[in-house]
Amino acid sequence: MRLACSECGAVASAGTLFCDACGGLLAFDLDTSSFDPVALCQTFRERRASNDPLDTSGVWRFRELLPAIAPSNVVTLRENALPLYTAVRGGAYADATRASYLHLGMNPTASFKDAGMTVAISHAKESGARVAVCASTGNTAAAMAAYAARAEIAALVLVPAVGVSEAKMAQTLDYGATVAAIDGDFDRALEVVRGLDPARVAIVNSVNPYRIEGQKCAAFALLEARDWRVPEWLVLPGGNLGNTSAFGKGFREALALGLIDRLPRIAVVQASGAAPFAKLFRDGGDMVPVRAQTTATAIKIGAPASWRKALAEVRACDGTVLDVSDDEIADARAVIGRDGIGCEPASAASLAGLRKLRANGTIGRDDDAVLVLTGHVLKDGAYASAYHTSGAPYANRIRNAPTDAALRELIDEVTAVRA
Ligand code: F0G
Repeated sequence: MRLACSECGAVASAGTLFCDACGGLLAFDLDTSSFDPVALCQTFRERRASNDPLDTSGVWRFRELLPAIAPSNVVTLRENALPLYTAVRGGAYADATRASYLHLGMNPTASFKDAGMTVAISHAKESGARVAVCASTGNTAAAMAAYAARAEIAALVLVPAVGVSEAKMAQTLDYGATVAAIDGDFDRALEVVRGLDPARVAIVNSVNPYRIEGQKCAAFALLEARDWRVPEWLVLPGGNLGNTSAFGKGFREALALGLIDRLPRIAVVQASGAAPFAKLFRDGGDMVPVRAQTTATAIKIGAPASWRKALAEVRACDGTVLDVSDDEIADARAVIGRDGIGCEPASAASLAGLRKLRANGTIGRDDDAVLVLTGHVLKDGAYASAYHTSGAPYANRIRNAPTDAALRELIDEVTAVRA
């Protein structure tokens, strides 16, 4: 696979993270002409019956389509064994009859970042890196820390001092990373990381093209789980926009390989207080960074690094970009919980977005729409607790049963409702 600039096309020189010529992000170029789609599908399927660690990973199972890394250097935690769930209540909430959830929160560190991190850290190990670094709103931090621990590489994360979920920080500390809380937001942290020398440290934010290669496998895993039937829509939250770039690339490669015959349309959903990409999509022009503000802290990002790649992907599939309010995200998250699924706040932008796109007619009632849930419900327990003690529409408060009589009354109430 060739590594080249995603903007000017210049071939990348070894060991760089950005284009020498124009500073653009790098991307791998897959030569799709040498594959037989039928044989590929069969290989992918056969590996699902194997217990080889590489085959049980929903990333490395697709290794023909990834940059070459020696198996002895692969660091895997069996990521991307992805469940697809019907969205019963979520679908009804959005007035959509065929919605489903692709739950990337069901990954080893409970977010979609694992799929990218297995490739980025394997590459770091193969390159002999001693330290991995990232800026993060919490999930990249936890994923990097876990994979770096497995690779026996030191991990240093830069996070905003305020606003990152406690659970994500505890998880990152557990995996042994050094956490530096900076006096600034995610955008500032990423700026600092981008200034580091990639020859000295492995930078594993999604500006690293190996991350995108891993994350694109979620598109393959999704399509394979649907027997290569293409959904009409894929709806996902957008922050730094690496994941949008990755899904778009995965779908385009699947099309070029002949695994599918059309692209699904991608809808990117941002939180209203952190929606520079939605504004750019609406108004045109270049990215104008904003000072991000949202309670969906994972996507509290005002200057998305991958906006050019993401814009190209959204355009290539005739997709769309929109934003939703924090209240819409909060209610949508609670509804996803009622489906027995659950997710963290940022993930629920997908259902809030579907609801809005149904209301304005962009998505049809019977369109087959896949909602990407990016992080697990336990990633932000404090947010969920606060919602349930509020007067919000789907709040479900803890009931007191101090006496046997009160408990009996409550049991009667519950059984009457369920009878
Ligand atoms: N959802 C969750 C749960 C996230 O953690 C993130 C990003 C996104 C969505 C947005 O994805 O950046 O690829 O558009 N979290 C990063 C982090 C920034 O540091 O964990 P994106």
